[in-house]
Amino acid sequence: MAETIDGAALDQLFRTARTMNKWQDRPVPESKLRELYDLLKMAPTSANASPARFVFITSQEGKEKLKPALSSGNLEKTMSAPVTVIVAYDTAFYDKLPQLFPHADAKSWFTSSPAFAEQTAFRNGSLQGAYLILAARAVGLDTGAMSGFDNAKVDAAFLEGTGWKSNFLVNLGYGDPSGTFDRLPRLSFEEAAKVV
Ligand SMILES: Cc1cc2nc3c(=O)[nH]c(=O)nc-3n(C[C@H](O)[C@H](O)[C@H](O)COP(=O)(O)O)c2cc1C
Repeated sequence: MAETIDGAALDQLFRTARTMNKWQDRPVPESKLRELYDLLKMAPTSANASPARFVFITSQEGKEKLKPALSSGNLEKTMSAPVTVIVAYDTAFYDKLPQLFPHADAKSWFTSSPAFAEQTAFRNGSLQGAYLILAARAVGLDTGAMSGFDNAKVDAAFLEGTGWKSNFLVNLGYGDPSGTFDRLPRLSFEEAAKVV
């Protein structure tokens, strides 16, 4: 039976990991992005639908394309991050269900209800964005998630013709802890949970 992972791993994933606002001038090779994807893809989604899609922006040209969509508070840290990921979801994710869930006609569950399809794509795509944050930390990267940007502008600049929609952004790299604020409080178990 599996045990709780060791304390150093828990620190790296949760307890001492911080959202980063400043970045070291240290590149992230594509091999690291592939290592991170190969972990996050294994985490669960409903009907194994895996609706998230990821655009890894690593070039200066890509950053310049992203710039007009960013809120002012997110501008500097995003332009200086080695990588910015657009966490998106595929609105036609169900086209891949014959491959991903071959033992049932799962595609028809979604083609018969656009609202259910959208809900499933957004729910599971968001989960996969969270998996990306934890997978990044697991492979030694720091992260900074952002919802402060114009989704329509990002979609027009990067996702035109794909059927993908942006959800949120995540900066990736090796953080400079001088850019972090004091840790904010979290809700206690009593405040956030019930055991019934
Ligand atoms: C989905 C999401 C969106 C966020 N959007 C922004 C943002 O637009 N700008 C920003 O500076 N921080 C943003 N944050 C960062 C949070 O404020 C930060 O993760 C939280 O305060 C916890 O900080 P800590 O991880 O250092 O404890 C976002 C975080 C998440 C998960």
